[in-house]
Amino acid sequence: MRFLTAGESHGQALTVIIEGYPAGVPFDRVLIDAQLERRQAGYGRGARMRIERDRVEVLAGIRNGISLGSPIALLIRNRDWENWRDVMAPDSGEVDPGRAADKRVTRPRPGHADLAGGLKYRQDDLRNILERASARETAARVAAGTAGRILIEQLGCSIFSHVVQIGTARVEEQEHPDYATLKEGAAASPVACADQAAEAGMMRQIEEASAAGDTLGGVFEVVCLGLPPGLGSHVHWDRRLDASLAAAVMSIPSVKGVEIGLGFRGAAVPGSSYHDAIQAGRGRGFYRATNHAGGVEGGMTNGEPLVIRGAVKPVPTLGKPLPSVDLATGESVAAAVERSDACIVPAAGVIAEAMVAWVLAGAITDKFGGDTLEEIRGRVQEYQDYVNHR
Ligand SMILES: Cc1cc2nc3c(=O)[nH]c(=O)nc-3n(C[C@H](O)[C@H](O)[C@H](O)COP(=O)(O)O)c2cc1C
Repeated sequence: MRFLTAGESHGQALTVIIEGYPAGVPFDRVLIDAQLERRQAGYGRGARMRIERDRVEVLAGIRNGISLGSPIALLIRNRDWENWRDVMAPDSGEVDPGRAADKRVTRPRPGHADLAGGLKYRQDDLRNILERASARETAARVAAGTAGRILIEQLGCSIFSHVVQIGTARVEEQEHPDYATLKEGAAASPVACADQAAEAGMMRQIEEASAAGDTLGGVFEVVCLGLPPGLGSHVHWDRRLDASLAAAVMSIPSVKGVEIGLGFRGAAVPGSSYHDAIQAGRGRGFYRATNHAGGVEGGMTNGEPLVIRGAVKPVPTLGKPLPSVDLATGESVAAAVERSDACIVPAAGVIAEAMVAWVLAGAITDKFGGDTLEEIRGRVQEYQDYVNHR
């Protein structure tokens, strides 16, 4: 399975084409809209999120609420387009040169794609870079990833995310987390954090940063339950599931670190306490009392919950901007200020759920075949019976 997206932040729309999606999957636009809405939420988001109310339109690949096996085409309109048509229109006849000049960006923001992209694509107006580098594109990824999520949920898996750190406020680590409570707590929290003491600290730090014209990063965790063992493979670097998951999560703008299981925290732990002892029960298969590996060993799922974290850097656009250089004049200036978010960690978690679900759906179709949901379900069941009765 693969997908491609197109669309600028203030362009007409975002588009997605998904290829290789199985036939027979109940596919509901409402499920995608619900995830798009979650991506837009979170304490610390900026004014743009109040303008956009994302809704997906399904243009192809679904009939009567069921996937056909043909390419799926999705469209998410940018509601802000009407305010930007005379700046962003593809047709030069529609562009107002005065307004376009007003919206020109020549002062690259440290931490954003502006400078490197402007040099790479030889652009004098950095808007030609930031329009696509903007995380608005992740709405299209959430739409595509939800297709993956729908597929894995049909096979009995579930996926959620929660925030474990914003700024210096962080949750207490738990050896045996209660995932149902974490999921419920995160869904009810403005910062997607189930720990109320940490939540209060996170919200306070966001308010303080925001008032100071500053921004904050943090850490989210994605958990997927119900996966069969053996997704991915140890045989080649590019078939290792941990590698594909890390790439998918790292590809989210502003994610700068990825951990599976204990990750970096495991580097200081001796092997005897790091590794998860193997137990077996007839009819239950193999299981572990701990899950420091985060559900992946040898590049394959091992049947335990998949646990993956992403470290998110602080948002680059600052209310009190850092020094930069004006590309038009060569003078030292303050970096550009665009309408911006103060903290996007909860949203990054939602996007990561979509990316992880997408990778897992691909790993499932790789192992079990990908033409129809019915075939995949039958093969997963047969394999699960084998695993549970070894
Ligand atoms: C959901 C989300 C929203 C974001 N909103 C903003 C924003 O409002 N302003 C900003 O400067 N960066 C924002 N970012 C981060 C930038 O997109 C990102 O830092 C930039 O594309 C550079 O990529 P890099 O951080 O991966 O190097 C956001 C990221 C995400 C995931």
